[in-house]
Amino acid sequence: MRILLLGGGGREHALAWKLAQNPSLDRLWAAPGNAGIEDIAQCEPLDPIDPEAVAAFAEKQGIDLVVVGPEAPLVAGIADELASRGVPCFGPTAAAARIEGSKAWAKEIMFRAGVPTARSATFEEVAPALAYLESLGEPCVVKADGLAAGKGVRICETRSDAAEAVRDCLERGAFGPAGRPVVVEEFLDGEELSVFCLTDGRSVLPLAEARDHKRALDGDRGPNTGGMGAYSPVPGTSDVVKRAVREIFRPVVRTMDKEGARFVGLLYGGLMLTADGPKVLEFNCRFGDPETQAIIPRLRTDLAELLLASVEGNLRVYRPNWSPQACITVVLASGGYPGDYHTGLEISGLEAAATVEGVQVFHAGTARRDGRTVTAGGRVLAVSALGHDLAEARERAYDAAARIEFEGRHYRTDIAARAAEGG
Ligand code: AMP
Ligand code: GLY
Repeated sequence: MRILLLGGGGREHALAWKLAQNPSLDRLWAAPGNAGIEDIAQCEPLDPIDPEAVAAFAEKQGIDLVVVGPEAPLVAGIADELASRGVPCFGPTAAAARIEGSKAWAKEIMFRAGVPTARSATFEEVAPALAYLESLGEPCVVKADGLAAGKGVRICETRSDAAEAVRDCLERGAFGPAGRPVVVEEFLDGEELSVFCLTDGRSVLPLAEARDHKRALDGDRGPNTGGMGAYSPVPGTSDVVKRAVREIFRPVVRTMDKEGARFVGLLYGGLMLTADGPKVLEFNCRFGDPETQAIIPRLRTDLAELLLASVEGNLRVYRPNWSPQACITVVLASGGYPGDYHTGLEISGLEAAATVEGVQVFHAGTARRDGRTVTAGGRVLAVSALGHDLAEARERAYDAAARIEFEGRHYRTDIAARAAEGG
């Protein structure tokens, strides 16, 4: 089998690492990849959001499966372009990727499917949005409709903050076309859970759940980031995951199919576990980052086979096999991230870190320069570790993380800490 993986972050390194274990793999390419992926795949300087270029490459190389990591190529129609040329692609069409690419449309699908989510309404104009805000309590939430690099959601303490957020989107063009329309919704309280389901458009196969740590600093302080760490499994959530599959994922997949937007790929539900049960905060049309780096090390079933089954529409026969071990992943970030940061800084200690039992170091923002590994992004590495429980996984991951150095590196010291203590 010949596989092309699109993307170049920690999620893609974890996927590449697992795909490379497929016994019938002939060749693995990644575009663009990173310094870690380079060790297991051939990296190509292709732009993943150029569907024509990717499809031409896939045809030329006789690729049997394209696996898409990030959302942008999916929203740009990579799956459609590949389908038109008969190249199998893991990831939804542009029509189905709207579940992530348009928050307003995602809300419509949720309402039609009757799944629990925050009460909300969608607006093109400021005045009716402000009137609707009066019907909500405080805090409340304002969301730009389109992709906004993780910055499009504003949790507003007061209605007047929310009114400003609405104006930012609709009047001041803060997110360009992605800011119109806006979704205004009630604030949901509780703990968050990321649930990943594979689907072939009909069957829904839940993978493991994970919990992400989005804030930059210990104790959930500091600015929001793309994710500073994650762990899986999340103790005490197996019933809620089953309930979410029944009440959320199956109805949404069925509704999308009926609407002519059949979803093939990985449907990621960002859920809030409220006092009234799980409610959807958002859907993503791809694997999560860094949750993938905490889930994939636990997967015993061959990943390429699972992804192919989803593309070929026979997921129903699969039951993935999971290690009973727990996994945590700790993100090592550049100094200043999520704000400005330097790149090109030399990374040391990677080999020493890799010798810690149960540890896999996944590269996120790295590059190779003159034979050295250097930083090339905000999130630089994701240090994952398996252990017989979360406490052991934490010890191993933090032992390994402490062995890695680069100027200004920072990481949270409390990933999975509460869960490991049984709290
Ligand atoms: P993003 O991943 O950038 O779309 O941001 C989504 C994050 O915003 C979620 O992970 C939640 O932390 C938060 N969020 C979104 N909607 C709500 C809501 N209705 N109530 C509370 N928090 C929310
Ligand atoms: N971990 C959040 C995301 O992948 O969107």
